[in-house]
Amino acid sequence: MKKHIAVLAGDGIGPEITAGAVEVLKKVAATYGHTFTFEPLLMGGCAIDACGEPLPAHTVERCLASDSVLLGAVGGPKWDGLPGDKRPEKGLLGIRKAMGLYSNIRPAKLWRALADASPLKRELVEKGVEIIVVRELTGGIYFGERGTCTDADMGETAWDTEKYSVKEIERITRIACELAQKRSGRIVSVDKANVLESSRLWRRTVHAFATKYYPDVTVADMLVDNCAMQIVKDPTQFDVLLTSNMFGDILSDEAAQVTGSIGMLASSSLGDTTCGLYEPIHGSAPDIAGRDVANPIATILAAAMMLRDSFGMTREYAAIEGAVERTLEEGWRTADILSEGMKKIGCHEMARRIADNI
Ligand code: IPM
Ligand code: MG
Repeated sequence: MKKHIAVLAGDGIGPEITAGAVEVLKKVAATYGHTFTFEPLLMGGCAIDACGEPLPAHTVERCLASDSVLLGAVGGPKWDGLPGDKRPEKGLLGIRKAMGLYSNIRPAKLWRALADASPLKRELVEKGVEIIVVRELTGGIYFGERGTCTDADMGETAWDTEKYSVKEIERITRIACELAQKRSGRIVSVDKANVLESSRLWRRTVHAFATKYYPDVTVADMLVDNCAMQIVKDPTQFDVLLTSNMFGDILSDEAAQVTGSIGMLASSSLGDTTCGLYEPIHGSAPDIAGRDVANPIATILAAAMMLRDSFGMTREYAAIEGAVERTLEEGWRTADILSEGMKKIGCHEMARRIADNI
C-alpha cells in the first residue's frame, strides 16, 4: 500500500520521538512491501516561532490531504506566557477540531517485561491491567465558552463551560460500545452526575443509546472521584472506560502511571473518516529535550495504531507491538523505565533496536 503521512514533530522531545517512530515505520514499509511518504509540518511552539501562530492554515490543509497524521508533543516554558488562544496547546486542540477527531482511544496496559515498573503492589496488578480509555475529544469544557470579567464583589474572575449535546455523547458511546463488543462486553462510563447537569445528560444518553443499539454491552456508571480512587485501588476491574474530554485527560494519565510509565502510552484520535491523528499521551518534556534520553515507545506504538486503525494493517501493527515487547525482554530500557539489572539506552538507540526487531 502507498500511504502519505503528515508528521507534526512539535516541541521539546517531539522531534526525537517522532524521528524514532518514522524509523520504525520505514522498517515496516521495507519489510511488508509498502510505500510510506512523510511530510513534516509545523504545529505548536515551533509554528509560533516560524509563522506567529500555533496552527498555520497550511498545516490543517496538508493534514486533511494526508492519509493520517503522526504527532510528537507540543508546548514548553518558552511559550507559557502567551495568552490562551496563542499557546502551542491551542494548535493541538485546533487540529483535533479541524479534523473532526471526536474519538480518542488511550490503551493503558501493563507490559509483561515491565511488571515491576508499576508503582502499585505486585498483588494488585499481577492479574494483568489493560484499561482502554475512550475519551470524547472535541467537546466539553475544552471547547465550551470561556471568558474573564471583573465581578463586582469578587474582583478578577474567569470561567469555562462544560457543555455536551446528545449527538456528541451518542457518537462517542458508539465507539466505546463497538470496542467493548470486541473485548469484555463491559463499559464503565465515568461522569460527575451527582453535581453536573451535563453529566446527567451524559449518563442518560449513554444508557439509552447502548440499550437501544448494543443490548449485549453492559454499561456501569462511576463517579469520576471514585474512579480516580478505584484505578489505584484495583485497576484490574476496568476494561473499557468511557468518559468526557477533561475527565479522560486526567484519568488516562493516572491509568498510564499505574502501568509503569507515561512514556509507554499511545493514543489514536479518529472521527468519521480513516484519516486520524496518532500521538503519545505524554507531553513535550522540555527538561529532557535534545538530550537523547526520552522514551520513543509511546510514539512508536502510536504509529502502530495508525497502521491498524487507519490503514487496516493488522499484521504490521502486531509486528511493531511484538518488536517492542522483544526489545524490552532483551533488557533494553530508556531512563524512565529503567530498573535494576536492565541496560540503559537513549531514545535513538531504543528506536533503532525496535526497528531491528521488526
Ligand atoms: C493530552 C494533553 C493535551 C490535552 C494538552 C497538551 C492540550 O494533555 O493529549 O492529554 O489536554 O488534551
Ligand atoms: Mg493529558
